[in-house]
Amino acid sequence: MIIASNLKTNYTRKGACAFIDTVQMFMQNSHTSQEVRIYIPATALDTFDKNVQLRVGAQNFYPVQNGSFTGEIGFEQLEEFHITSILIGHSERRHILKESQVLIAQKFDFAKVKEVEIVYCIGEPREVREQGIEAVMAYLWEQFEGIDIHYTNLIVAYEPVWAIGTGLTASQHDIEEVIARLHVKLNAPLLYGGSVKVENIKDILSIPYCEGVLVGTASWDSNAFCTMIQVADTLEK
Ligand code: 13P
Repeated sequence: MIIASNLKTNYTRKGACAFIDTVQMFMQNSHTSQEVRIYIPATALDTFDKNVQLRVGAQNFYPVQNGSFTGEIGFEQLEEFHITSILIGHSERRHILKESQVLIAQKFDFAKVKEVEIVYCIGEPREVREQGIEAVMAYLWEQFEGIDIHYTNLIVAYEPVWAIGTGLTASQHDIEEVIARLHVKLNAPLLYGGSVKVENIKDILSIPYCEGVLVGTASWDSNAFCTMIQVADTLEK
């Protein structure tokens, strides 16, 4: 399974390095069979001495190799650190940073040409969830506009906006229903994200076709994140 941590806007360069070291050490000692991803802030990018099951990824980039885009990170700046996994379409970028579907699709196309792993995030806001499953699915499929769902290095993360950073997890039934419907059309591995924590990760990973999690808040404690990897190891999947 894929157990991913999104550090978001947390951790300094030094702190992120220590976080990665702790997780790395844990993975070595526990002989975990999980695929682990850690998405660090751009300022913490570095060349880490990692095992093959751990990839350090980027949370964002601007779809250019380099150029005049003040304040942005181009692909050249990721390649310097051999970044091979990227988050695209995260709800915080869609809603807070106002990224359009057009820009998101441009990022996707750029990353696709580079053949990196893309964790493509989708998720509905609360008002859509309140309209029921058909409205949720219509909203989610719109978030695939301009996106090549057949890209071989694609992972899809379903993260309901109202469950992110709120402590509210979607119900087991709600997650199951969405994941099952996504699975009908998508071959990509499907992850769930939104208030995943040590206490609920086992139930979430037990959902059919759910192949992992993307964790924010609860993963920022490296010990808790390691415990989540350990829980995943106890499941036969
Ligand atoms: P939380 O785990 O804090 O809800 O965040 C989820 C998320 O946004 C992961 O990308």
